[in-house]
Amino acid sequence: MYAQGLIGADGASDESEEFLAAFQARIDAEEKIEPNDAMPEGYRKTLTRQIAQHAHSEIVGMLPEGNWITRAPTLRRKAALLAKVQDEGGHGLYLYAAAETLGVSREQMTEELLCGKAKYSSIFNYPTPTWADIGTIGWLVDGAAIMNQIPLCRCSFGPYARAMIRVCKEESFHHRQGYEIVMTLAQGTPEQKQMAQDSLDRWWWPSLMMFGPSDSDSVHSEQSMTWKIKRFSNDDLRQKFIDATIPQAEYLGLKVPDPDMRFNEETGHHEHGEIDWDEFWRVVKGGGKMNRDRIADRKKAWDDGAWVREAALAHAEKRRARQEATLEAAE
Ligand SMILES: [Fe+2]
Ligand SMILES: [Fe+2]
Repeated sequence: MYAQGLIGADGASDESEEFLAAFQARIDAEEKIEPNDAMPEGYRKTLTRQIAQHAHSEIVGMLPEGNWITRAPTLRRKAALLAKVQDEGGHGLYLYAAAETLGVSREQMTEELLCGKAKYSSIFNYPTPTWADIGTIGWLVDGAAIMNQIPLCRCSFGPYARAMIRVCKEESFHHRQGYEIVMTLAQGTPEQKQMAQDSLDRWWWPSLMMFGPSDSDSVHSEQSMTWKIKRFSNDDLRQKFIDATIPQAEYLGLKVPDPDMRFNEETGHHEHGEIDWDEFWRVVKGGGKMNRDRIADRKKAWDDGAWVREAALAHAEKRRARQEATLEAAE
């Protein structure tokens, strides 16, 4: 899962005009930029920040859902949720590896997350009080992530674009498993249907906010578009998501909590009411209900795993020494 809206591009640089023009020509020709290629410092910094934030979001996103693995209502649900949470861990790993090709270490990225310097998708700072939230997260949050990530499969930076292809395939399974949970509840008893509706009420607006600030307030978005890191604006992606999701809600007999939502016959789009951006910025700045818990849980997992990392390194070191000894003996 991932929200791209907060990443501004670093446009300023002291590279020569010719260098920048040659780089832009490669981008315009839809060539992929690979880790060892020359690239403007701003391009490198923007991508490092964006991929790291994306990786953190995948990893932190495991927490609200992991919380429900032991309480899933059936064995089938539990197996699907376990697989989903494991996928998110895998997404985080591909992405940390992609960011490492740009010259930043995994330790550095993790430290920045734990000390509160690095951002992750603010959606994960909301609590998941009922089982219906697991369905709604798959349906809306993974659904929004897919809208964001499909265009990233064509991102100009090779390792990021390639990682996204597999990630998107897995996200579409997450989206379906979520929708199926909500569908079961919506077709169940009146209490179950109410549970699904309450959950939609909780997650609708945060999901729309996942696309980031409105285009008019989105700083440096243009540079990311020119570099073909980003292919669509925040508002365009949000609109695509709404147009895809409203018919799904209607099919379930659920209503999004927006009294101003209406279908515009002329444009063929669903128009939404005012988004509460004050709430968005409050959560982004660490004011989310679960902000402290999520980082504390992540820190605990990182600290508890320290011995595993040390043991793995010691094992790799021993193996290398043994291989070297064998090679020397053979010479
Ligand atoms: Fe993911
Ligand atoms: Fe996902």
